[in-house]
Amino acid sequence: MNQQEFKRRRSALMRMMGKGSIAIIPAAGEKLRNSDVTYRFRQDSDFQYLTGFPEPDAVAVLIPGRKQGDYVMFCRERNPERETWNGRRAGPEGAVRDYGVADAFPIGDIDEILPGLIESRDRVYYTMGVFAEFDRRVIGWLNNLRARTRGGVQTPKEIIVLEHLLHDLRLYKSRAEIRMMKRAAAISMEAHRRAMQRARPGLYEYALEAEFQGYFCAQGAREAYGIIVGSGENGCILHYVENNRRMQEGDLVLIDAGCECEGYAADITRTFPVNGHFTPAQRAIYDLVLAAQKAAIARCRPGRRFNEAYEATVRVITRGLLRLGLLKGRLNSLIRDEAYRRFYMHRAGHWLGLDVHDVGDYKVSGAWRELEPGMVLTIEPGIYIPPGSRGIAKKWQGIGIRIEDDILVTADGPEVLTQGLVKEADAIEAWMRAV
Ligand code: GLY
Ligand code: MN
Ligand code: MN
Repeated sequence: MNQQEFKRRRSALMRMMGKGSIAIIPAAGEKLRNSDVTYRFRQDSDFQYLTGFPEPDAVAVLIPGRKQGDYVMFCRERNPERETWNGRRAGPEGAVRDYGVADAFPIGDIDEILPGLIESRDRVYYTMGVFAEFDRRVIGWLNNLRARTRGGVQTPKEIIVLEHLLHDLRLYKSRAEIRMMKRAAAISMEAHRRAMQRARPGLYEYALEAEFQGYFCAQGAREAYGIIVGSGENGCILHYVENNRRMQEGDLVLIDAGCECEGYAADITRTFPVNGHFTPAQRAIYDLVLAAQKAAIARCRPGRRFNEAYEATVRVITRGLLRLGLLKGRLNSLIRDEAYRRFYMHRAGHWLGLDVHDVGDYKVSGAWRELEPGMVLTIEPGIYIPPGSRGIAKKWQGIGIRIEDDILVTADGPEVLTQGLVKEADAIEAWMRAV
């Protein structure tokens, strides 16, 4: 992603904010994992979107119309000793040189400098409630200004949540973002292909997880979320991440795994038989989930509302469960009573982008949002029949199937970013045979 792209985003946001405003955007902090060990650093998505600056302990400030420059950054100073222990830092000089910042200051000076930048502004845009410690500091700066009003200091009249503007921008993906998401999709698809060919009874779930970790890393990418490898009845646990069971003859395995490239996620699920052959019961449920997914994807076009895809999955799945004898009754009453939720308990998908569950409102003024070109969403219906399900024939028990693809809405209709990955049951069996 080049600096022009980040500049375009800041300009777009500042146009929406208008003159007389200021936005304060903190970077993510480092998080302790245990003892003095931190998790691998992941930049905050809002901060990443606007700056591309890859360090913690930084604050970006946007000030539309400021004469000395509308983009200010506070960040860590260069420090040869700290950099030897903990890695390189851009320093304020690097922020100006490499990241398009107009004015950069050491983060340690923020208490002295930032109130002065806020002082002359009417409106402060800020993502209140995300970083508790930082919230307190912002309130502190504002209170300090307020305490000085009798001395003629002006204080902002409004504090406005930044998300409404910023997250609406993030919902519409640019060409550069779509390119990045296609790269994440391509790497993730290839990892799924490898895992399918590696699977066999006797192998542990974590051995398949390793295919993803290894391939992502080899491609310079990282997992976008906790990888799920659920075999047998583990496929019925939606957020299963232990991945430590030995896979058995006759199992299905559900793998939900995707990587991120420069922060942009792919989110893909495939479910396939560990031994390469669906049983008739597995195949019946698989084909039903697939039919539901296709019906939903067909509705990912401009003018359709976000919820229509979900409604399509509900109709196809309920009709199918009725036909297979897993539900009994009349189609319309089963839909009205949400009987399908016993087996299909989540929604059909979510926005996808810098966050795997990306930002952007799903409803506007109370109505489901209309899809527009540039939006990216997942479509991921599933059917889960845990063992011990009362009144359900044995052959269905322990089957958990989800199929998930990533869809770009275009003027011409849905473009499936993860189209290149086998999905038809016959194609999966053929691919697994082709080892
Ligand atoms: N992998 C998370 C999800 O599918 O929503
Ligand atoms: Mn998803
Ligand atoms: Mn997923």
